[in-house]
Amino acid sequence: MRDAVDDLIWDEAPKEAAAVAILDAPELVDGALGITPDVRVFCDDWRDAASVAPELLVEHPDDLGGVDLALARLPKSLAALDHQAAVVQGAPDVTYLGGARIRHMNYSMNEVLAKHFAAVNASLGRSKSRVLRAYGPQGLESDWPKVRQHDDLGFAVAAYGATFGGTKVDPGTRLLLMALAGGGDHARLEAGTVLDWGCGNGSVAMWLAKEGMGVLARDVSWSAVAGTAVAAEVNGLTVDATWGDGLDGYADHSVDAIVTNPPFHQGVAKDSTDTLKMFDEASRVLRPGGQLWCVYNSHLPYRRALSERLGPTRVVAQDRHYTVTVTSSGR
Ligand SMILES: C[S@@+](CC[C@H](N)C(=O)[O-])C[C@H]1O[C@@H](n2cnc3c(N)ncnc32)[C@H](O)[C@@H]1O
Repeated sequence: MRDAVDDLIWDEAPKEAAAVAILDAPELVDGALGITPDVRVFCDDWRDAASVAPELLVEHPDDLGGVDLALARLPKSLAALDHQAAVVQGAPDVTYLGGARIRHMNYSMNEVLAKHFAAVNASLGRSKSRVLRAYGPQGLESDWPKVRQHDDLGFAVAAYGATFGGTKVDPGTRLLLMALAGGGDHARLEAGTVLDWGCGNGSVAMWLAKEGMGVLARDVSWSAVAGTAVAAEVNGLTVDATWGDGLDGYADHSVDAIVTNPPFHQGVAKDSTDTLKMFDEASRVLRPGGQLWCVYNSHLPYRRALSERLGPTRVVAQDRHYTVTVTSSGR
């Protein structure tokens, strides 16, 4: 359903265009189709993309280039905004309109847009929302994906703008990799088919593939899955990375282990929903006795949740911030 941000983007948009790009704003697709039949949609979140007619979706955000109007939900990260602004370059007269809740906006967003457009200004606020307008494309080529070699880990990771963590390796993930390498409390990951759930830039998947595991990777973010695929290619490793929600599409008892640094947001209970749902689904996808390796911020009550939902869970590594657990699927 359209919200106040969508309504403001739409009200600010010119109602004439030869080709319209819609970025992360599926609710604006119908309106855009009333302007022109040439509507090209990219949504980073698989759930948003799933709500759009498949024939309108582009395969890659680079396919958006050449439109004269781009309507976007402003992403939270500046890197993701940079990627949005880069991929809609091409036509000499493209206008970009990006909207968000004012509390999620900051002046650095104007600066990012100003790198790609000659003029940037803001709409008046309405219903706690605002739109940034950008005109006069500078025609800078996209420099996404970015790749960074991590010599200490022995592999490279890759990121598009919206990939969680960019090309850094998350500190929780480092603890998880250390535990997997045997630096924790003597837990062992058996060789087999292992799924990196919520793969982000693919750092866990690369580590597993280097160890000779058969590696599956799953993320709801296109930028994560595409970044992981790029990293696998750069490293000469094989990873079957798929874009989707939760564990949808994986067959029952098809995986020997799941390794995850799952999504969470500090202190907001409802934001653990995806993770708790994955814990529930894991018992379906893991073979009986299969392991779930998980790293999380130590204040979160995940050990209890894992024990209740999946099976016996023990802590195998811990530092000042993070806890790594291993759960044996007992259901
Ligand atoms: C904390 S990040 C970890 C990323 C990466 N594994 C790392 O260690 O840097 C969690 C990841 O879970 C993904 N995610 C969130 N909800 C999801 C869902 N419902 N299904 C699949 N992946 C999801 C996010 O897009 C994000 O990339």
